Amino acid sequence: MCGIVGYIGKRNALPVLMDGLKRLEYRGYDSAGISLVQKKRIKTWRAVGRVSELEKKINIEEMGNVGIAHTRWATHGEPSEKNAHPHSDCGKNISLVHNGIIENYAELKKLLSKKGHRFSSETDTEVVVHLIEELAKKKTFMEALTEAVRLLEGTYGLAIITSKEPGKLYCARKGSPLILGVGTDEFIVASDASAIVSHTKKIVYLEDGEIAEISPDGFNIFNAKNHKTAKQIFEVNLTDEQVKKQGFPHFMLKEIFQQPDAVRNALRGRVEKFLSEDGGPIPGGLLCVEKRLKKIRRIVIVACGTSYYAGLAGKYLLEEFSGLPTEVESASEFRYRKNTIDEHTAVLAISQSGETADTLEAIREAKLKGALTLGIVNTVGSTIARETDAGIYCHAGPEIGVASTKAFSSQLSILVLLTLTLGRQRRLSFSESKALATELQKIPEKIEAILRDKNTIKKLAKKYAHFSDWLYLGRKYSFPIALEGALKIKEISYVHAEGYAAGEMKHGPIALIDEKFPSFFIAPTDSVYEKTMSGMQEVKARKGKILAVATAGNKKIKDLVDDVVYIPAAPEAFSSFLSATVTHLFAYYVGTAKGYDVDRPRNLAKSVTVE
Ligand code: G6P
Repeated sequence: MCGIVGYIGKRNALPVLMDGLKRLEYRGYDSAGISLVQKKRIKTWRAVGRVSELEKKINIEEMGNVGIAHTRWATHGEPSEKNAHPHSDCGKNISLVHNGIIENYAELKKLLSKKGHRFSSETDTEVVVHLIEELAKKKTFMEALTEAVRLLEGTYGLAIITSKEPGKLYCARKGSPLILGVGTDEFIVASDASAIVSHTKKIVYLEDGEIAEISPDGFNIFNAKNHKTAKQIFEVNLTDEQVKKQGFPHFMLKEIFQQPDAVRNALRGRVEKFLSEDGGPIPGGLLCVEKRLKKIRRIVIVACGTSYYAGLAGKYLLEEFSGLPTEVESASEFRYRKNTIDEHTAVLAISQSGETADTLEAIREAKLKGALTLGIVNTVGSTIARETDAGIYCHAGPEIGVASTKAFSSQLSILVLLTLTLGRQRRLSFSESKALATELQKIPEKIEAILRDKNTIKKLAKKYAHFSDWLYLGRKYSFPIALEGALKIKEISYVHAEGYAAGEMKHGPIALIDEKFPSFFIAPTDSVYEKTMSGMQEVKARKGKILAVATAGNKKIKDLVDDVVYIPAAPEAFSSFLSATVTHLFAYYVGTAKGYDVDRPRNLAKSVTVE
């Protein structure tokens, strides 16, 4: 959510900032802006819409070795030029970009207005720059910044420049991610590594409460108590190639096609444990809590969006094979209600980005209550990965498409591994876990078979693209996929879709069914297949159209449904991997058939770092 990039060094900042903005555009894309320090003055450009609109406004020859840039996902104030970042103080000496929400902005704005400050936007951000201006009247810039952030309530990732110190770049973080790329004679600040890796792989993670003072010769980082802190420099193994489309028309399609590899990478070096009796240790990230894992009596999964639906699939797996009672809760609900977790509960956060504000806060809340906190996270070094007691990385590689696809397959894979780990500590026999692990290894090639048949799904997407409402239905392991499928088509194609447990259909949604309201049934041949069929009969009896996902060889289903997409046979616990890919491809092709920018769906953002 909101992309930030800042540069200080010997090169011209503009191309670095512009390139950074394009790479961060998936975080927010309703407006963008850049400020450069030019001859001890700050020049700012802002534009509504995509980064390409901003690019049209700036002469590429504009020079400056220090600058900040921002791509916005609006929270306070509509997307407009005046609300776009960077924001400036009254004297036009300070320019600032922000990610997060300043909760006490109204109060601060009132106070600053009384002191004569004039505001030109509706944003919460603008108060920060005026607050620094006010405090800097009697203090050094660093002192003013330190005091200003102390007065802020809410979350922020900030990058700031001032014409009073033209050779400096400042940044501060609380709750919103910010990292510092350390190059030779140059530094790049960004809200994620994709804007940095083409320049340097050396990264410093800023922690909450920290402020960085950066010059072309080096940087100092101060903690919340204003003490200079030594920071470790990490090496990220993210390549520039990984953040490009590599011949695919969209990141989303590239990432759907990476699903087989996402599963392979998740299993690599981990699944072996379950294939032979002396098959090695449990996943490395869990070793430090191996004994504690044996003592837990309950799991609570917290997550948002697609990660939440992966968590729901995890509940079915964990309860069936490990016997551990498992609940799944939206992170945003978990954190604000009284819950009953204790030291025998493991609270498991699932997050692709590792930065989702609600999920992060849920984990912090769980820690306070003494629970063991675990993470299934894709982004290495992200805040959730760092703050959980232990966890398993997905290793799915960067996911750029705003709608999550390969991360989902990866999360499902890790959930199976976690289930097998906890199951072996409890009731699962070696032969049972081996049988499951063997089948799990076959999943990537089964997904590949679906991808080879992509044109079948493409044709169906064209056929059904004109419908404006859908019901997605499934039972047991297919229920979370019905929810995920409905979410995906909503996000990408702006089609109204509801995911339901197929058994619930008769308790309400059936009232909607007619020839204009189709149903997408996830109906693999499994222990609840006959029950799912009954639901289809009920839809048919009301003239509803049916598109179904079924297991290869099930010819009979054709008598009942209008269209069918076949998936390879798999154990019922794993069919979700396969039907998920079908729903992802279907949403992609409906979205592209309607001419939408599926990588940047309207109103959405990839990493939601505000509540
Ligand atoms: C946003 C994204 C979704 C994602 C959700 C959770 O809403 O658009 O694709 O599933 O956040 O994100 P996380 O990074 O925590 O998995």
